[in-house]
Formats: sequence, structure tokens, C-alpha cells
Amino acid sequence: MAENIFKKISTENEIFQDERVLMPDYLPEVMPHREKQIEEVAYGLKGAAAGKKTENMLILGSSGTGKTSTVRYVLKQLQEYSQKVVPIYINCWESSTRHSILNNIATALGEFVPRRGVSTDEITDKINEVLRKERKTPIIALDEVDRLFASHNDEEKVLYDLARAKELFSTDFGVVAITNSNEFLVRLDQRIRSSLVQKQIVFKQYSPQELKDILKSRAKLAFCPESLSEEVMPLCAARAAKNNGDARLAINLLWKAGKMAERENAEKVGEGHVRKAFEEVGEGESVEDKLQGREKEVYEFVREREEVTSSELYEKFKDETDRNIRNYISMLVSLNLITAETKGGVGKRGNTRIIKVKK
Ligand SMILES: Nc1ncnc2c1ncn2[C@@H]1O[C@H](COP(=O)(O)OP(=O)(O)O)[C@@H](O)[C@H]1O
Ligand SMILES: [Mg+2]
Repeated sequence: MAENIFKKISTENEIFQDERVLMPDYLPEVMPHREKQIEEVAYGLKGAAAGKKTENMLILGSSGTGKTSTVRYVLKQLQEYSQKVVPIYINCWESSTRHSILNNIATALGEFVPRRGVSTDEITDKINEVLRKERKTPIIALDEVDRLFASHNDEEKVLYDLARAKELFSTDFGVVAITNSNEFLVRLDQRIRSSLVQKQIVFKQYSPQELKDILKSRAKLAFCPESLSEEVMPLCAARAAKNNGDARLAINLLWKAGKMAERENAEKVGEGHVRKAFEEVGEGESVEDKLQGREKEVYEFVREREEVTSSELYEKFKDETDRNIRNYISMLVSLNLITAETKGGVGKRGNTRIIKVKK
């Protein structure tokens, strides 16, 4: 009989103590080098706990600078601290329409909203109803809020709803908008800018030393004692520092290096494992990785063929209206993933368009 497969792959060398600590959705309990930002966000929201007006804010910073974690951290603490608020975190890549954002808010307030057949006005009414009864202040965090501008359906109008919440819902909302796009402010309508952006907090890219501290705080919980060679964290930190100081990349590299060591049944994670992790991880997460649902299917269809016509897309996704498909196309164009050129010149209506992937 051959050796039992589980015996063969069993590892006597334990590398990880708790791998979950290195997963992207893990919310750290301490965030080195973000103490000040955490305090700033909390300070802006403190009015809500006393039933007063909050300061609406915009958080700006490139990918992996700790924006999402900072806000989630503060919202969690706010929820524990006060019964008067309802913190609602919404990622605009997952809820990218005005309708779904309002829907999210209603649901978070405890209203049941059927998935289909409910108009935006009806949802607004429902939100109104709960708020009149409960007298709580919703604090809405809109993460990756620039996503709302990618559609051509004016989804960003929801920002207008939130900015004038007082008239619409007869109670103020706290709004924390998060973006990594400097264009966001430019696109924001002048009329709502002053009420949505009462305060701006910029998250700077982490330095190599800061990344090392971040890694250290996570490694302590994630790895068994003595399982990291000395050079491992500095290497991951240096690499991530070169990639815009992205802490997500640093942590992911550390995790992958650990996996490599585990796989080889090595006693410790060493430089070789980090190099392999570099190869596997590349430059980190890209826009493509964040696409979802139909949008993703449309993009993948184009990418596999490199070039398609709009009619081919209508044909492939027959169950969708042409209008929807046109929307997906313009969304992918504004995300800089594809190009769409009208055949036979611009301006002719109903013309077939040539859709190409951008490389
Ligand atoms: N100061 C920090 N301390 C500990 N972990 C951090 C810190 N900043 C970022 N991280 C971690 O890095 C990853 C990316 O952070 P995230 O908040 O998602 O960044 P952003 O939203 O700016 O892209 C997450 O896994 C997060 O836990
Ligand atoms: Mg984020």
C-alpha cells in the first residue's frame, strides 16, 4: 500500500499560528501610524453620539493606505459606544447604484426591502418612517465612492440625497466618503461639495519603516514565534513601499511567503520564500479584480476575444436590454479597461461600435 496522502503532506513545522490575521477582511485592533487619522475621523463623528450634527468628511489616499480599515475601526467603536447612531458601511463597488445604496441604508435601519419591484421613492419613504420613529442618526460610510461616477445613469445623485438628508429625511446623516481618486472632488457638484466635504483627511503612503511596523504588529499574531527569518519583513516592506506604500501588498506578500514555507515544510520563512511570493503576487490588486456580476462577464467576454463589436455583445447577453449593455460598455470605458470606437465615424446613431481591451 502506498503511504497515506495526509501523512505525506502533514507538516511537522508549524509556520502559522493564526493565518486569518493576514486576510484582507481582517480588521486589526491596533493600527500603527494611523492613530491620528483614527482620532480625526472619530472627532468628526462625535456629535452623532450626542444626537448632534456631525462633520461630513472626505478621506483621500491611494490604495493600501489604511482608509477602509480606519473607517471600519471607528464605526465599530462608535456602535459600541452609542445607541443613538446607526453606522452603515457601504462599498460602492458592491452597491454601485443610488437604488442599492438607499436599499442598503433601509436594510441597515431594520426595514425589509424586497429585492425587486420597489421604487427608490418607496425606499426613501421607508427610511423616513423608521427615522421618524427611532430618532437615530445614520452614519454612512461610502467606500470607493468614485465608483458612482463610472455609470452614465447619474448614480452619484445619491450623494445629493445624503447631502440634503435634513430636508429629505428630517434628520441629519453623517457622511464619510472614501476615495483614492483625486478627480473625485472635481467631479463633485459645487452645490453639494460644501456640505459633503466639511473636512478632508489625507492618508499618505506608508514609508518602508511604517510598513515594517505594520507587518510586525500583524506577524506577532499570525506567525508562530521564531518562524520568520530576520530579512522577511524588511523585504516585504521594501517591495510594498516601492508600490505606493501599499500595506495590503505588504501583508499579502508576508502571507504568501509563509504559505511557500509551509508548503516546503521549511522550519522558517526565508528570503527564498519571499522571492517566490513576489513572483506570485505581482503588483497587487487591480481594477479588473474588483469587477462583479454582469459587468465582469461583459469585460471577460471582450478580454478573451480582445476585440468584439457591440452587436456581438448584444447577441451574447440577449437577456439584457441593449441599453443595459451600452451602460456596461460606458462603465468599462470610464474604468479605463476597454475602448469603444464607432465604426465609420463618430456621431452616427445606432452604429456598431468596436470594443477593444486596453492593455
Ligand atoms: N496602519 C495599519 N496597521 C495595520 N494594518 C494596516 C494598516 N494600514 C493598513 N493596514 C492593512 O492593510 C490592508 C489594506 O488596508 P485598507 O484599509 O484596506 O486600505 P485602503 O482602504 O486605503 O486601500 C488591510 O489588510 C489593513 O488591515
Ligand atoms: Mg479601501
